[in-house]
Amino acid sequence: MNNSDEVDDGIDSANAAWAFDMVPERFESHIRRSVPYYDDGQSLVARLSDFFLPEGALAYDVGSTTGSLARQILERHPDKRFSIVGIDRVPGMVEYAASRVRDPRASFICADALQFDYDRSHLFLLYYTLQFIHPSVRADLLRKIYEKLHWGGGLLLFEKVRAPDARFQDYLSQVYLDFKLENRFTPAQVIAKQRSLKGNLEPFSENGNLTLLAEAGFSDIVTVFKWVCFQGWLAIK
Ligand SMILES: C[S@@+](CC[C@H](N)C(=O)[O-])C[C@H]1O[C@@H](n2cnc3c(N)ncnc32)[C@H](O)[C@@H]1O
Repeated sequence: MNNSDEVDDGIDSANAAWAFDMVPERFESHIRRSVPYYDDGQSLVARLSDFFLPEGALAYDVGSTTGSLARQILERHPDKRFSIVGIDRVPGMVEYAASRVRDPRASFICADALQFDYDRSHLFLLYYTLQFIHPSVRADLLRKIYEKLHWGGGLLLFEKVRAPDARFQDYLSQVYLDFKLENRFTPAQVIAKQRSLKGNLEPFSENGNLTLLAEAGFSDIVTVFKWVCFQGWLAIK
């Protein structure tokens, strides 16, 4: 039975109260049905990691949640010597990721991405994470990432994005609404999710994201993924 805070089976979230403290397995099924091409985007990130993992490299997955992205990257490079560190501020997700990704090259740390003391790295991943970082400090995180990247290192940034004007935003939102309904969310769940994300998920436009990347120091940037209101970029230092 639906209650007004139910956003999915087994996930409830009140108005403006979205958090990632749900059962990890529920998160995985929820995000697959919520984010178009979620698995394909992770495979694409893994493919692109080929260019940024020299022997002994260090990669960070910022907002690693269940560790599924780190796992894809490790599985793509079974014989390569490198480390990947997942950072997430939700203890239950960090424990789950550590229990699921049993590879000595991986570690998962419970920390605030903004406070964490990163080592110099070859690759940073922000896979649908930056949109959950408050706009007032988003630029700080990107500046920190740019500073900690080796010259030639890469940032893969995937985000939900807003359209450049109201008409396009209306069209794109409606297409995305259809996607969610086709993915078996009820109208009540879609509304509950939209209400719960208020103040928690704040998408910028493509231009807004490009401006942030440029202000952080990146000048070599290419779009690697786009579906309606979801976009991925590769930025190289
Ligand atoms: C939508 S999920 C990211 C999805 C994930 N990258 C994947 O591949 O499935 C956003 C994650 O970012 C984490 N997060 C948000 N703000 C954070 C912060 N300031 N520090 C660390 N983790 C943060 C959340 O806890 C959540 O697990």
